[in-house]
Amino acid sequence: MNGPVCLGIVGCGSVAQNAYLPLIVNLIAHGHVRSVVASDVDPARLEEVRAKYPIDRVTTSAEELIGSDDVDIVVVLTSMPSHGELALKALQAGKHVLVEKPMATTLEAGRELLEAARNAAGWLVCAPHVQLSPDYQELLRRIGRGDIGRPLLARARYGWDGPDWGTWFYAPGGGPLFDLGVYNVTSLTGLLGPARRVTAMSALSRSERVVEGELIRVQTDDTFQLVIEHQSGALSTVTTAFGMQKYRGPAVEVYGLEGTLQLLGDDWAPDGLEYWSNAAGAWQVFDSRSRYWPWTDGLAHLVNAVRTGEPPYTRPDQAFHVLEIMLAAMEAARTGVTQELTTSFVPPEPMPERDRGDAHRIHDRVHEDAQS
Ligand SMILES: NC(=O)c1ccc[n+]([C@@H]2O[C@H](COP(=O)([O-])OP(=O)(O)OC[C@H]3O[C@@H](n4cnc5c(N)ncnc54)[C@H](O)[C@@H]3O)[C@@H](O)[C@H]2O)c1
Repeated sequence: MNGPVCLGIVGCGSVAQNAYLPLIVNLIAHGHVRSVVASDVDPARLEEVRAKYPIDRVTTSAEELIGSDDVDIVVVLTSMPSHGELALKALQAGKHVLVEKPMATTLEAGRELLEAARNAAGWLVCAPHVQLSPDYQELLRRIGRGDIGRPLLARARYGWDGPDWGTWFYAPGGGPLFDLGVYNVTSLTGLLGPARRVTAMSALSRSERVVEGELIRVQTDDTFQLVIEHQSGALSTVTTAFGMQKYRGPAVEVYGLEGTLQLLGDDWAPDGLEYWSNAAGAWQVFDSRSRYWPWTDGLAHLVNAVRTGEPPYTRPDQAFHVLEIMLAAMEAARTGVTQELTTSFVPPEPMPERDRGDAHRIHDRVHEDAQS
């Protein structure tokens, strides 16, 4: 077991301040992280994070952070179009890397990153981290052992009204499929395996929005409906938009010849399972296996991997396949032509029970301490 690690965060906006840094505070408190360097092109953002969080050093140069000896893991939390380039530089500098989704915004940049990861000294962990949630793992285990027979169909959805910050969410290289649907495509390919074809339709519900107090023109479609044909023959759909208000109902449903399994909540914030079995003739409801599982868990997972030497569970080749599905869906929506996919991956088996989620255990303990 190696000692606590040094983190370098690139991009100190919403997701850094509201999600990853609170997790990092827990990782420091539990002796997993020793120091944190933060970088942003905006010096005001650096002052904000330094005032709120235990940051040892700040820099406006991502390159300087990436090249520093006091950084073991580079955490790329910038706007989407810069992910591929920053993650590639960090891998080339010999660092371990966590990159927020999507891993890149073009297939060429994604392929370059995947190839770099195959030859790199460090590991690459790509968000989203949905496969690490204990509820997802239970769903995967039940599908794999045949609880619902052969899966035929599945559906997944995630949407909301959309960010009122970050104009880049509404510019080319942004949009709800890269930002939100990516969770669903990751869940569905993890549960049903790689895809061979995809088709989609997309629409624009509002051509103007107020972002950071300014009226802007929306340059990407904000509403998507995908149909994915998996290599197994199963068909799945993804519903995602910047414009959905509220929903009730499971995030993911998987239908088999002998039953149905549902993941409750959202796939990034799961809340247990429901299971219909023909044999039992009844619905069964299973409470969440970890009510406080954080969707940032990939970072705790990578920190644990670096400390123990155990390779991460999530694989960049799945993130690359998910990227191809999303790009092909956008092309199908643009042209009206179903797209054949060229990439694939081997879905990992369910995690052994003992390995399921070290971060969520930290998180559960923090909540239990706060309540006692
Ligand atoms: N906000 C969320 O709730 C959320 C949730 C999950 C994932 N994400 C993902 O996290 C990423 C960031 O989202 P956000 O909402 O925090 O965006 P944001 O716009 O609030 O923050 C991005 C930050 O990155 C900085 N930045 C941009 N390019 C940079 C560069 N080259 N070097 C250093 N800093 C740079 C910007 O100045 C900004 O402070 C996106 O990929 C998003 O999809 C966001």
